[in-house]
Amino acid sequence: MQKVVVSGPGKLMLFGEHAVVYGRPCIVTTVNHRLFVSVEKISEAAMRGQAQNERFSLPLNSLVIENIPKKLKFLAVTVALFAKRYPFAGGVKIYTRSQFSPLYGFGSSSAVTCAAAKALFELFEVPYEENSLFEFCFEVVTRIEGLRSGFDIAAAIYGATLFYVANPRKIEILPVTDLPMIVGYTGIKADTPSLIAQVGRLKAQKSEFVEKVFSNIETITRSARLALEEMNWEKAGALMNQNHEELKTLEISSEKLDTLVMAAQSAGAWGAKLSGAGGGDCMVALVSREKRQSVIEAIEKNGGQVIDTVINVDGVMVESNDTSHFARTALAM
Ligand code: MEV
Repeated sequence: MQKVVVSGPGKLMLFGEHAVVYGRPCIVTTVNHRLFVSVEKISEAAMRGQAQNERFSLPLNSLVIENIPKKLKFLAVTVALFAKRYPFAGGVKIYTRSQFSPLYGFGSSSAVTCAAAKALFELFEVPYEENSLFEFCFEVVTRIEGLRSGFDIAAAIYGATLFYVANPRKIEILPVTDLPMIVGYTGIKADTPSLIAQVGRLKAQKSEFVEKVFSNIETITRSARLALEEMNWEKAGALMNQNHEELKTLEISSEKLDTLVMAAQSAGAWGAKLSGAGGGDCMVALVSREKRQSVIEAIEKNGGQVIDTVINVDGVMVESNDTSHFARTALAM
């Protein structure tokens, strides 16, 4: 095999962000916006190709985190770690194409890491399982970003909607098939590592308070699991509202997020909350069919961009090892 194309899904955090970094559970779902990575063997000992509209050509032995341009970090560290663990002759040509903007907070870093890693394991015929792929990708992400829970890696690899605990690791697929959800983008890019660090500082100053907030978030997340399994959207919505209030006390929400959340709530959503690290990115709302249009209008009127989203999709998958297919699906986007 000379070439493999793998796609990975984006994700949305539904419950439990930040608390999950400290061992509490979270619920994450995958979205139908995918990122495609094509990896091809080349004879030259280099990693070259194109990602996020930027061409690159880097000798394999130069892939040291500090030297790598920001846009290429996740790809390059994935290749470097793979080459170190499973040395191969020559190099790789890599192209990426995404169906979603890296600004949304849909997890483009985890999607590109997991898709590239799976492509490399496939291309060089190194045996792997979902679990070993997870450990490999988690190492890539934590080498670059430090403290992370790995929930986004789990989502990209396993797909579907997951109940996730980082330590000891627990990944359970929830029987959720549909969620009447609306996703609103704030137009502001969040910086996840600095928001995690901000919560870390608050925790160092007010440990008891933050632990109490994490406990409340854990209770909310566990109740939300039952509500989602029972398809009790009214209950799940009320829990979203509560989760948002808890996150506000951690000081990671923003004026724009609060405005969009309140707009959705006032327009009749069952519930709404920020999704992810906070600071920007997206908010999510659970909404009945009758209220859907008014919630969409309320979010848009308040400066949010509604992103058409289907949840609960497959994790990383081999799309093809054929050039023309990549040209049709990925390059055409
Ligand atoms: C970021 O989308 C979610 C956080 O909980 C970070 C993580 O779990 O790695 C803030």
